[in-house]
Amino acid sequence: MITISRKAHFNAAHKLYRPDWTDEKNKQIFGKCSNQNFHGHNYELIVSLTGQVDPETGYVFDMGELKKIIKSEIEDYLDHKNLNLDIKEFSSINPSAENIAILIYNRLIKYFEKSYKLKITLYETPRNFVEYSG
Ligand code: NI
Repeated sequence: MITISRKAHFNAAHKLYRPDWTDEKNKQIFGKCSNQNFHGHNYELIVSLTGQVDPETGYVFDMGELKKIIKSEIEDYLDHKNLNLDIKEFSSINPSAENIAILIYNRLIKYFEKSYKLKITLYETPRNFVEYSG
């Protein structure tokens, strides 16, 4: 098995907040990320696909095809959006890095046959990142 990866990028705004909690509790749990008027992150995404090398092409998966899938499913969907207000999946759950990584995985997995293993790595800041592989 061998893993190929493609990097992508999007900017988006969010806040982490539970309306059923007081402002004090939200601030205590979510810190600056609970700021009422939202704030932005420069998200860096790494999409990794593990599979066998196709003996005909020498590829695990066509990178050009992977680039197009990430552009249409993730960048066009999330870039320059307010994740809380614009993205229906986040109307009732917090757009934490964890939940964004799960959303990205769920939007991409349908493109790959079962023999592939998909892993999402999402950097919310240069030092904070999450990994999700289903
Ligand atoms: Ni934040």
